[in-house]
Amino acid sequence: MLEVRNLRKQYGDLVAVNGVSFCLQPGDVFGFIGSNGAGKTTTIRMISTLLEPTAGTATLNGADIVKDPLAVRSMIGYMPDFFGLYDDVKVWEYLDFFASIYRVPRSQRGDVIDNVLQLTDLTVKKDAFVQSLSRGMQQRLCLARCLVHDPALLLLDEPASGLDPRARAELKALIGELGKMGKIVVVSSHILPELADFCNTVGIIERGDLLAFGPVDQIVKGAHTTRVLELRLLREANASARFMLDLPHVVAAQATSESLVCVDFSGDYEQQAELLKHLVSEGFPVIGFREQEADLEDVFLRLTTGAVQ
Ligand SMILES: Nc1ncnc2c1ncn2[C@@H]1O[C@H](COP(=O)(O)OP(=O)(O)O)[C@@H](O)[C@H]1O
Ligand SMILES: [Mg+2]
Repeated sequence: MLEVRNLRKQYGDLVAVNGVSFCLQPGDVFGFIGSNGAGKTTTIRMISTLLEPTAGTATLNGADIVKDPLAVRSMIGYMPDFFGLYDDVKVWEYLDFFASIYRVPRSQRGDVIDNVLQLTDLTVKKDAFVQSLSRGMQQRLCLARCLVHDPALLLLDEPASGLDPRARAELKALIGELGKMGKIVVVSSHILPELADFCNTVGIIERGDLLAFGPVDQIVKGAHTTRVLELRLLREANASARFMLDLPHVVAAQATSESLVCVDFSGDYEQQAELLKHLVSEGFPVIGFREQEADLEDVFLRLTTGAVQ
């Protein structure tokens, strides 16, 4: 289990991470979402033991990142947002090197390398030179290198950045696989749709504050005190929006085009039916009336102000 408690990092006056707390269980794939500068990398680097927190701590399976960084390091695989690969090194040599650093016994290294190559779908590239691989393959190789010591926690900082759609899809499948193997996976991204569909837990961070944390559907539900109704009119969208503003439970109403009106509505379904009745009896030509599906992207935009330090 990963338990992050009040983790904080301050650079002078700038609070990069402002007392972040959350808990993850084996098998959790956690999407850590935030704009550039929100504090994702700083949080991940603290958990990885590479950066000392100003306050707070985290424990991984009981080992404390501040008091016992070596024990923690042996249980984590960390893929930084910018990683370097070595030239003139073959894929298997590269992995062998990291396996030796992680003290994988020499007698086991061959099997370990074969296993991680298979998992990352790089078996055919075993004898290829690292610099000859495509960007997507290099990314998977970097992930393979993080797996040689069978870590309990993977910290992947913006792993999908710079990948083409196919490489991205392959990476997603691989990350899902790692979750199924019972690892805790933390994946950060500033591009929300990238994470929404394969993480079971998400966190939204802005300016160092964790604004929301939990299962995807819970976050989507929790952030909505109102529902968004979408109305289509034959004409008079503007006039109908103005009219609705005076009706009960209408928090906001705005015509977004000649024929479309978006309504923030705080009432229940009975009251929603009433709203339609009012409109029709007033003579507005309503041709469509539906509730907008709330999704994670919508929640993200609601919770964050778009401010970056
Ligand atoms: N070494 C540092 N010194 C001073 N400020 C830093 C340092 N590292 C990061 N920051 C600042 O901390 C904030 C969070 O940065 P970061 O964690 O890299 O965000 P993200 O990874 O979400 O883009 C930013 O405002 C950034 O400029
Ligand atoms: Mg970052």
